Amino acid sequence: MVSIRAFVVGTLLTSLASAKWIVPAGRWHDTDGNLINAHAGSVTWDHVTGKFFWFGEYKTEEQEEGGGVTVYSSDDLGTWQFHGKALSPIEGHPYISPDMIIQRPKVIYSEVDQQYHMWWHADNSTYGLLLQGFATSPNITGPYNFVDATAPLGNWSQDFGMFTDYKDNQTYALYSNGDRREGRDVYISSFNDAISAIDSVVHRFNKYDLEAPTIIQTDESYYALMSHKTGYRPNNVVAFRAPSLSGPWSQPFMIAEPYKRTYNSQSGFSLRIVGSERTTYMYLGDQWDLRSVWDSRYVWLPLTVDDKKHSVSLPWYDIYDLDIPTGNITPINGTSYAASEATVSGSAFKQEAPFATNGQIVTGISGNDSTVTFHNISGSGKKQWVSFYYQNTDDMGFGDQPGGTPDRIGGTWVVRRISSVVVNGNTAGMQTLVQRDTHKGIIMSTPLELDLEAGENVITVGGLDNGNGTMGADLDRIVVFPSEEDWRAGPGGH
Ligand SMILES: *[C@@H]1O[C@H](CO)[C@@H](O)[C@H](O)[C@H]1NC(C)=O
Ligand SMILES: *[C@@H]1O[C@H](CO)[C@@H](O)[C@H](O)[C@H]1NC(C)=O
Ligand SMILES: *[C@@H]1O[C@H](CO)[C@@H](O)[C@H](O)[C@H]1NC(C)=O
Ligand SMILES: *[C@@H]1O[C@H](CO)[C@@H](O)[C@H](O)[C@H]1NC(C)=O
Ligand SMILES: *[C@@H]1O[C@H](CO)[C@@H](O)[C@H](O)[C@H]1NC(C)=O
Ligand SMILES: *[C@@H]1O[C@H](CO)[C@@H](O)[C@H](O)[C@H]1NC(C)=O
Ligand SMILES: *[C@@H]1O[C@H](CO)[C@@H](O)[C@H](O)[C@H]1NC(C)=O
Ligand SMILES: *[C@@H]1O[C@H](CO)[C@@H](O)[C@H](O)[C@H]1NC(C)=O
Repeated sequence: MVSIRAFVVGTLLTSLASAKWIVPAGRWHDTDGNLINAHAGSVTWDHVTGKFFWFGEYKTEEQEEGGGVTVYSSDDLGTWQFHGKALSPIEGHPYISPDMIIQRPKVIYSEVDQQYHMWWHADNSTYGLLLQGFATSPNITGPYNFVDATAPLGNWSQDFGMFTDYKDNQTYALYSNGDRREGRDVYISSFNDAISAIDSVVHRFNKYDLEAPTIIQTDESYYALMSHKTGYRPNNVVAFRAPSLSGPWSQPFMIAEPYKRTYNSQSGFSLRIVGSERTTYMYLGDQWDLRSVWDSRYVWLPLTVDDKKHSVSLPWYDIYDLDIPTGNITPINGTSYAASEATVSGSAFKQEAPFATNGQIVTGISGNDSTVTFHNISGSGKKQWVSFYYQNTDDMGFGDQPGGTPDRIGGTWVVRRISSVVVNGNTAGMQTLVQRDTHKGIIMSTPLELDLEAGENVITVGGLDNGNGTMGADLDRIVVFPSEEDWRAGPGGH
């Protein structure tokens, strides 16, 4: 976790038209209009520029690993400007060539040498090296120059995290130590003053076999968040609490409702934002797309900390506004349209479901002739986010349910439920809705940004072919949100 003191961020330029809402699992674009490509990322607040910088893994369809580290900057954590690659791969380099692993980058300023220090999980493609990479730059956006890749205190290091204690500015490395039987631990180890090498082990989470660690800190507690080891498949992220980093640490507990696999996301980083009205803790996770890792989304959500109960939890919001100066989170309300009120065609039909809106869900959505159509959707004539609430009963049953029923298709989990979304019959503007596994009776949502006309609109959902059939997930309802521009201009706006 990195702490941000909001009063330093004094140069916020807010324009009515600029988007800054945070939409977990939505397609996020930078200020150039391109998809943000910074996976397994971390965010550093920079004392020189007074901005946030997001560092992450650059992934493309052609190259999912070894693409180097990209960097984006922001004043508000919602509007991101691209600055290119902070760390570029170098052909033939023993540790940062394009066929090596450069994962989970973290950047921190070192007062000792007055350079920015980047650390990451450095490895070869078979994860046989398990090292920590180190590079430096005088400029936060880079380019970073490779220094070394080392084994911390001679040990293995896989998923890499970093944490700075706000009480004494001591920085720690957090790392899982691989999948071998002798490993399967997570370490908290202190860095030296220069943040150029690891000094000593502070705590070892022994044999829990967890990864992707991050820590949030309150005045009384430390909460260490980690995910289970299920590769790119999501699972139920757990937290441990302790009064000090050396422990004693509590039992692990889930931070989100079971069966939702932390909204199909994996932990990796967190932020503490000290606003003038409240301190907000942010969970920065990845919603990996196992089928196309390069096309993964980001799930950033505010954490709810209850220090009296020694507990932390992660409620879901489709959309929220984060105000950095005050630290306030404002969930955005939308208008709900039930699938039970929609019309169905072909083999799509409404089925009794006690867990669904009005006790009915639409199932059998398949292809372009078996669809569900929502009528009379009020639109503003501007881009609007629409959340599609669905049930996907494929139940990958992996990781969070050891020994549970594995996948129904060949034991290999892929995203099997994909739907087409067409507004007002405009098939040329069709959007693809990815509906990851939920569970039987568990409803979750995926957001899409749609062009709605001013006045009444019609939205039609059909199943798309994923190579294993054309089934869409079962639909419960859609929620249509106001345009951000209208919301900011309106009475509830900012
Ligand atoms: C990765 O490193 C390990 C340990 O040196 C080695 O055994 C393995 O062959 C390497 N993998 C590749 C693809 O070079
Ligand atoms: C740092 O990089 C930015 C571009 O990302 C550039 O505008 C700036 O001049 C650089 N500063 C230094 C000191 O190199
Ligand atoms: C290295 O890792 C192993 C396995 O976790 C552990 O038993 C050993 O104490 C570690 N050594 C150091 C110096 O941390
Ligand atoms: C931590 O470092 C920051 C930035 O250098 C400084 O402003 C702050 O006073 C330090 N806090 C402590 C407790 O040393
Ligand atoms: C959203 O709806 C809830 C419940 O009706 C209400 O308490 C809240 O003030 C609304 N939020 C906004 C931003 O309008
Ligand atoms: C549905 O229609 C869209 C747009 O015409 C087309 O791209 C898609 O392949 C169709 N899907 C199926 C399953 O026929
Ligand atoms: C749409 O909703 C409005 C307001 O509820 C209603 O007056 C109108 O008849 C509806 N139109 C259709 C096509 O259902
Ligand atoms: C379809 O399922 C098979 C068997 O699990 C799997 O190997 C294949 O990758 C899947 N195809 C697609 C396009 O998802």
